[in-house]
Amino acid sequence: MSALQELGTTWRWGSPPTLFTISHTPPKPTVPAVLAGSVGGHTPLGLLEHWIDRCRRHRGIVHTQRDLGVNAVAISFEQDGQHVAYAMDRAGVQYLALGRQHASEWHLTSGTDVLAATLLPDLFTERLAELVWRLAGPPPPAPGSRIRDMWPTAGLLDLDEDELHERFAVPPPTEGHTRLVAVASIDGLAAVHGSSTALTSTGDQRVYRLIKRDADLLLLGAATIRAERYGQTILSAPEVARRRANGLPPYPAVAVVTRSLDLDLTGPLFRRGTGRHTPPRPILIVPAAAATDGNTAVAEHAEILVAGEHDVDLTRAVRLLQDRGHRRIVCEGGPSLAGQMAQADLLDEICLTIAPQVLAVAGPRITADSATQPASGEWQLSRSLLDEMGNVFLRYARPS
Ligand SMILES: NC(=O)c1ccc[n+]([C@@H]2O[C@H](COP(=O)([O-])OP(=O)(O)OC[C@H]3O[C@@H](n4cnc5c(N)ncnc54)[C@H](OP(=O)(O)O)[C@@H]3O)[C@@H](O)[C@H]2O)c1
Repeated sequence: MSALQELGTTWRWGSPPTLFTISHTPPKPTVPAVLAGSVGGHTPLGLLEHWIDRCRRHRGIVHTQRDLGVNAVAISFEQDGQHVAYAMDRAGVQYLALGRQHASEWHLTSGTDVLAATLLPDLFTERLAELVWRLAGPPPPAPGSRIRDMWPTAGLLDLDEDELHERFAVPPPTEGHTRLVAVASIDGLAAVHGSSTALTSTGDQRVYRLIKRDADLLLLGAATIRAERYGQTILSAPEVARRRANGLPPYPAVAVVTRSLDLDLTGPLFRRGTGRHTPPRPILIVPAAAATDGNTAVAEHAEILVAGEHDVDLTRAVRLLQDRGHRRIVCEGGPSLAGQMAQADLLDEICLTIAPQVLAVAGPRITADSATQPASGEWQLSRSLLDEMGNVFLRYARPS
């Protein structure tokens, strides 16, 4: 039964604003649990904020609700003589029920289009989304992605999204923090036939998404944008709420290192979203020599950042990005960019997935640089995890 249907069955006509959560995870009660009644004098928005405040101050509430298997948070109230019931589930899908108290007409709408049908302010949706991630559990992992701890402690239980996120979380940095994420086969290949698609898996995508969700900025080489037809990550409303609460903008910025500016401006990276939150315009990091060519078409679609003369000076580029407040940078490669980042000692962390494949063909490793001297510096394993498909997730950091 959908949250909306559940919502319908528990609709309490004429009642004052009531915040309640809906649970249908056996063996807990199969009827939605009304977990909070009205609080005198609160507007619907005030009621949401009241509960956010309680969650922030009493972590126990969060755990209790999660133990109950809460799947959605809903709020009901009256607006302009109309009853409104508005719910959001763990995946950020929104449900709206509208009705009049004495009319026989009962109008229901559901799905993500519901926002068009209501005059609810953006702030209302943001607050509901925040309450969803604070009170309800994270979305269930996709099938084929049961991930467990391997080291420093071996785990017997599959990790849910929040537990997995905690394994890869970085504390809010006062200074910059740059991590490389990459996937390789057992025999060290980072791409086959010009793409890493064959190496990725549901588990890898799951970890990757969580790492990206904590980023201020995603940094890529232009060849990866071209090879993978790279587009902006779509985040659900609870994920956006979580980012905001962690002091991050709704979406990570994307910065592309390029000399040629040879990028498809109609491609997915440059498409503007139509939703409530749209990702910011991509940043193109170019050397001065490339910036002088008068690329007005590019400038319409992206912001241009100049670092270096003939090649992008990556040390300078990272500093410029950090000065703009992009402190948590996730470098997604490809190998040429990652190699230069490693050579310039710009990486604080490497999150590497080893996919259980031997490809035995020619291809790049996760770093490829023309330097003849090996990069210096030690690395320490800080975490390793394993999924049921045999993917190993390794997190390396510089010794502290
Ligand atoms: N396994 C993985 O984790 C992973 C991750 C990402 C990508 N990949 C794969 O790796 C391949 C692409 O990697 P790649 O090494 O060929 O390329 P890349 O690192 O993605 O991009 C290289 C391009 O970035 C620009 N660039 C890099 N350094 C520059 C500098 N210092 N100054 C100016 N421009 C600079 C240049 O762009 P212009 O040519 O526009 O000047 C250069 O051609 C793809 O097959 C992709 O699927 C694998």
